[in-house]
Amino acid sequence: MPFSETYFRKWRGSALESIADANARRTIRHHFKESPTTAVRNVAKTLDDKTRNYAYEWERISNLHRDSGVYRKISEFIGEKDGLLIDLGCGTGNFLTQWSKTPAVGVDLNGYCLQLAEDKLKAKWQVDRYSDSTLEFNSKIGFELKPLPAHLRRGYTLLLDDITKLHITEKMLAEGETKADIVTFMLWGSYDVFKGTHFLDEERTSYETNSSAELSKKLVYELPRILKNEGTFYLGVRIDDGIMKALGQVGISMEKMFGVIAKDKGEVQRVATIELPQENGGSLIQVRHLIFNQNEQQNVLGLAEIKIKY
Ligand SMILES: C[S@@+](CC[C@H](N)C(=O)[O-])C[C@H]1O[C@@H](n2cnc3c(N)ncnc32)[C@H](O)[C@@H]1O
Repeated sequence: MPFSETYFRKWRGSALESIADANARRTIRHHFKESPTTAVRNVAKTLDDKTRNYAYEWERISNLHRDSGVYRKISEFIGEKDGLLIDLGCGTGNFLTQWSKTPAVGVDLNGYCLQLAEDKLKAKWQVDRYSDSTLEFNSKIGFELKPLPAHLRRGYTLLLDDITKLHITEKMLAEGETKADIVTFMLWGSYDVFKGTHFLDEERTSYETNSSAELSKKLVYELPRILKNEGTFYLGVRIDDGIMKALGQVGISMEKMFGVIAKDKGEVQRVATIELPQENGGSLIQVRHLIFNQNEQQNVLGLAEIKIKY
């Protein structure tokens, strides 16, 4: 599948500019065998290859979900709702294509995923994709992918942003003097393509901040920056059905599990489960259970509607 844009050159150029400083070059010499210029080239190349491969691989797995009706069922669970929808970590756009209502925004840190999302959406809708980014030296983590500004449009807006920060998303909404009515976040938990980039801080990655459960909890606190008061958050997580049933027998329900994530910021309104196809066969995509945080086979998507109040 050809991509209309690749990011390697832009990332190499911006990363080279960002290591003009002698301290940055010293740090790089300390961590890499190669010269700073070669090291930067290799980091940019590896990141470009990994993000592209991830997009291909998630596209394949996500299409399995699409074909078994997962995104249709999620859409049905949400029901007939109007307003601005923001899909966090939208991947290759299969949920947005199923949602098929505008305005809607898809946010992802992988520009190749956004390109694949655009290919699907543009057949029917107006799509504005903002997937430009630079790669810059950060003295705490190594290299950091920095998204560039975006503007909210009436159709579909595809936006490169780090959902652990939401800087670009928040700025774009503030410029449009609006916030979302609905935020969705589903099927989270993936391979970290930034491990090589964040060489100074291997513990901290953009894809996983401790665990997916922790990220979801943090997100609930950050949602008021992008979601209207009384807006709805849909959280869809992979759960081992067998474990969940066993927990149910000792009185731990899915509502309770989601309640722990929503804490005092959100009220769990409804929950549902959706059968998932097996996701195995991928070399890059590693699935972790959000709730149990293990690398096991899951078989259902636990879905919750959470009203956010602030
Ligand atoms: C497992 S896929 C799920 C995609 C989509 N929600 C779906 O259901 O098809 C996870 C997505 O999150 C994106 N992602 C991972 N870390 C991210 C971050 N820090 N900020 C934004 N997107 C991120 C990945 O690029 C990937 O597209």
